[in-house]
Amino acid sequence: MTEPVSQNIVRAEGSLGSLDKSDLLGHGAITAWFTGLSGSGKSTLAFAVEDKLVKAGVLAYVLDGDNVRFGLNRDLGFSPADREENIRRIGEVCRLMTDAGVVVLSSFISPYRSDRDAVRSLHPAEGFVEVFVDTPLEVCEERDVKGLYKKARSGEIPEFSGISAPYEAPDNAEVRIDTSGRAIEECANLVVAEILGRIRNV
Ligand code: ADX
Repeated sequence: MTEPVSQNIVRAEGSLGSLDKSDLLGHGAITAWFTGLSGSGKSTLAFAVEDKLVKAGVLAYVLDGDNVRFGLNRDLGFSPADREENIRRIGEVCRLMTDAGVVVLSSFISPYRSDRDAVRSLHPAEGFVEVFVDTPLEVCEERDVKGLYKKARSGEIPEFSGISAPYEAPDNAEVRIDTSGRAIEECANLVVAEILGRIRNV
């Protein structure tokens, strides 16, 4: 891990002790990391999972790639270095939010395996699940919800993931879902079950 630029900084800690956030909320915290191509259904799935978890009494929150790029990461583009920094910052946000007790549903293309693994390593082993939204490129392109694939094919958008920029599929994701030909409800239930199984035992 890269050392901070600042010197003479010392970590501060509170004194809550055993009265931690999970006692308050009644469940543990976790990061569910949704990765996949643009149009694969990551965000739709993450928001459906958020809806179900909140209705089940779980404090859950979606971090979405497009949304975060309007604010916190508005200074970043889509070069490999900017994507790496995008995911690094979000990984740190996930760490802060899970420390605050929240179930974080993080939806980013996150095309590089090393960046995803770096985020995983910020969490305790039981505090991170990778959800590979493995919808085939042809289906994502056929959907073309935002009209971006058409622009990427014509060269109007450079460095587009899956077309003119790489996407490295995970090979050890805890959950793998192909959303083509499956109801979002069914996909969301699979992820919710995985998350509930983990946060109820924390
Ligand atoms: S990531 O690669 O850095 O993880 P992120 O999830 O934040 O990407 O943002 C992806 C979203 O940005 C896509 O869903 C799409 O709407 C938009 N986008 C714009 N340009 C590109 C591009 N060149 N490659 C991929 N997505 C792009």
